[in-house]
Amino acid sequence: MSDKTIVLVTRQLPQAVEDRLARDYTARFNTEDTVYSSDELIRLSAGAQAIIPCHTEKLTADVIQRLPDTVRAICSFSVGVDHIDLGAAKARGIIVTNTPEVLNDATAEIAMLLMLGAARRAHEGEHQIRTDRWADWSAVAQLGAQVTGKRLGILGMGRVGQIMARRARGFDMEIHYYNRSRLPAEREAGAIYHESLEQLLPHCDFLSIHCPATPESHHLLNAQSIGLLPDGAIVVNTARGAVVNDDDLIAALRSGKLFAAGLDVFNGEPDIDPRYRELANTFLLPHVGSATRETRDAMGFRALENLDAIFTGSEPRDRLV
Ligand code: DGY
Repeated sequence: MSDKTIVLVTRQLPQAVEDRLARDYTARFNTEDTVYSSDELIRLSAGAQAIIPCHTEKLTADVIQRLPDTVRAICSFSVGVDHIDLGAAKARGIIVTNTPEVLNDATAEIAMLLMLGAARRAHEGEHQIRTDRWADWSAVAQLGAQVTGKRLGILGMGRVGQIMARRARGFDMEIHYYNRSRLPAEREAGAIYHESLEQLLPHCDFLSIHCPATPESHHLLNAQSIGLLPDGAIVVNTARGAVVNDDDLIAALRSGKLFAAGLDVFNGEPDIDPRYRELANTFLLPHVGSATRETRDAMGFRALENLDAIFTGSEPRDRLV
């Protein structure tokens, strides 16, 4: 019998990553790429020393408590770890790692796409062409909001937020931000810091959300905070759906308080609030922030780097607990 470390890989991963896993580990792959239920996850973990989950697997306190004693590490194929109860993992002595940095550029690209797409009503124009309903050019039809020179507020000026700011400067945008702590001047690069979300919001023609989902950020965007945005503002979310109160965002999009929203992440994915689909002023993507070939490979190899470190007795680079 092989003495290689047994790793449960909960979702299909890029081929190069699976090849490396197959070479160096006894990997249990998910060839159907289905999302395992909690019971399946626990059953399939029997005898495994490590799990490589994605954000689609909910490793709640209950699931973690029921994992077999053999499991020593959870090396998530994600930067976000709101799907893992870190306290429960720590209590069981299970090491948890994530994959920061490698998806910054790809996620900022999608935030830019959402910002431009929502502002310029991209999906409405595309829909006209695909459904052969483009009657004629018009000087007054499909008028969007111009992006160039406007104010962009960034909620969460971490790695992705800083790249978003850099890209937006290419559109001559004035950058404002709120973050738990102020960045040093060289990383601020001229961005205007606000000491609270409430202070930031009145300065945002566009608001792009880049903070992690935590109990503190839960439903930060709600009726009250939306009320502080200028009329006609545009909201972009590439972080997590949980930062947004859907009822309140939908009400603001319906009333015209907000001009539009560009969303890549949702509460309850993939069963999103169906009202988003009915709104003409939403530009919606299915959680593809990190979905480039380069980034998904890099995420996989970063998860492997952590896994390798743990099972060769070194400190993993991205250890969270
Ligand atoms: C992440 O890495 O957190 C992305 O949202 C994909 O899971």
